[in-house]
Amino acid sequence: MSTENHTAAGPLTTETGAPVSSNNQSEAAGPGGPLLVQDQVLLAKLAHFNRERIPERVVHARGAGAYGTFTATADVTAYTRAAFLSAPGKQTETFLRFSTVAGNLGSADAVRDPRGFALKFYTEEGNYDLVGNNTPVFFIRDAIKFPDFIHTQKRDPYTGSQEADNVWDFWGLSPESTHQVTWLFGDRGIPASYRHMDGFGSHTYQWVNAAGEQFWVKYHFKTDQGIENLTAEDAAVLAGQDPDSHQRDLREAIERGEYPSWTVQVQIMPAAEAATYRFNPFDLTKVWPNADYPRITIGKLELNRNPDNVFAEVEQSAFSPANFVPGIGPSPDKMLQGRLFAYGDAHRYRVGINADQLPVNRPHATTARNGNRDGLGYDGRHAGAKNYEPNSFGGPAETGRPLWAPVHVSGPTGEWETPHHAEDDDFVQAGDLYRLMTADERDRLIANLAGFIAKVTRDDIADRAIANFAKADADFGARLTEAVAKLR
Ligand code: HEM
Repeated sequence: MSTENHTAAGPLTTETGAPVSSNNQSEAAGPGGPLLVQDQVLLAKLAHFNRERIPERVVHARGAGAYGTFTATADVTAYTRAAFLSAPGKQTETFLRFSTVAGNLGSADAVRDPRGFALKFYTEEGNYDLVGNNTPVFFIRDAIKFPDFIHTQKRDPYTGSQEADNVWDFWGLSPESTHQVTWLFGDRGIPASYRHMDGFGSHTYQWVNAAGEQFWVKYHFKTDQGIENLTAEDAAVLAGQDPDSHQRDLREAIERGEYPSWTVQVQIMPAAEAATYRFNPFDLTKVWPNADYPRITIGKLELNRNPDNVFAEVEQSAFSPANFVPGIGPSPDKMLQGRLFAYGDAHRYRVGINADQLPVNRPHATTARNGNRDGLGYDGRHAGAKNYEPNSFGGPAETGRPLWAPVHVSGPTGEWETPHHAEDDDFVQAGDLYRLMTADERDRLIANLAGFIAKVTRDDIADRAIANFAKADADFGARLTEAVAKLR
């Protein structure tokens, strides 16, 4: 980012460029007297300071970001007409923000929580945002539950702290969370750094090729640094000693020229297979096992440049799952559908109506051209150009070509439950995950879960939570019951 000459030597000035005579003594009514309203240097400085903060993100408030490069390594034109994926070797600038979910802006990095993996591709057809996590699944499957879920992760309205009762009450009453909770309390629940974890698009997305054929796609980002995690004990020490551990690690690695990278892979399902697949492919609490849809490597993501200014480029960065490019679109996943609204709305509240004009958010490989104008922070970029369409003055024109392909729907509107496919239930994949773990991994999983469930004050809440794990695997439930009983 350009710093123009704001940091050059020379006289200190006000915001409007007038020289400042004293930045150490306020103007007073006599040597021992009170201060004067006419000291506008003092008043403007205090007023600006009071307005330094913008609202923190309602979730994922704590994070760190870096710019990088995506290099396509495979020909996927049979599946998508997205230009940035059109040829092996093609490179696209990116910005990636990592985050934790529940903690506030100043909270510690080394905690048990999913990590955000929000990636912006600055493509020549517009910015494509893939706003994922380091987990392939999520706790819930309908957007209408998201505020309830997050309220249980955040501070209780009365105690002002996160409460084990609220967390386990919600999870126990939401059996579809069992898979993600098993994942979170396993070893990968506390990554050693942002560099040593995988990323996932998590949702299913639509790809459409030049011929209009559509596919359902899941994204995977496999860390080239290897997976490394922290034990609960080591993380507790690190979180106390160095709350900024993950942010510092990322910045310092890039400063050293050790650029972290991820191998980018996709699972591709032909659209016609979705209706009969054994799991509902639009249910965010489920993965598609690799045996069903093997991962195909399509590119490499490298992070190679630190932002110059954390506030301007990380705090004000704005990612939206609704930012698609030609050849990529949404699936009917009910979580994704809710997210298509939520992020733009959050940006308008948090950063303002012109958030997408800021250097980190605007397109870098093309230009935004439309009739939107004015509003707080508008930068006057359009000068005197006409602000309506159609016009006879050479203004931008609509293309008539939707970015993604139409999806067939049928049946009456209604508050429908997510359809169950042949092998869908809330516990099958949680059980599979438990049985995949080594004996050591299971020991740590049980200890991590039991330590938290034991803090619940009501037996019915603890029992209901444990019952869900028992439905995933009888051994899982029995060991957890015993471990919690020992601690309570
Ligand atoms: C219906 C469910 C969800 C809703 C309503 C929701 C809403 C939000 C909102 C309002 C923000 C703050 C955005 C901002 O202020 O810029 C946010 C941030 C974020 N969410 Fe979600 N979210 C949902 C589910 C998910 C899921 C399933 C994932 C991952 C698969 C996810 C990943 C993220 C990430 C990574 C960020 C941080 C983006 C950044 O770094 O700026 N969210 N979410």
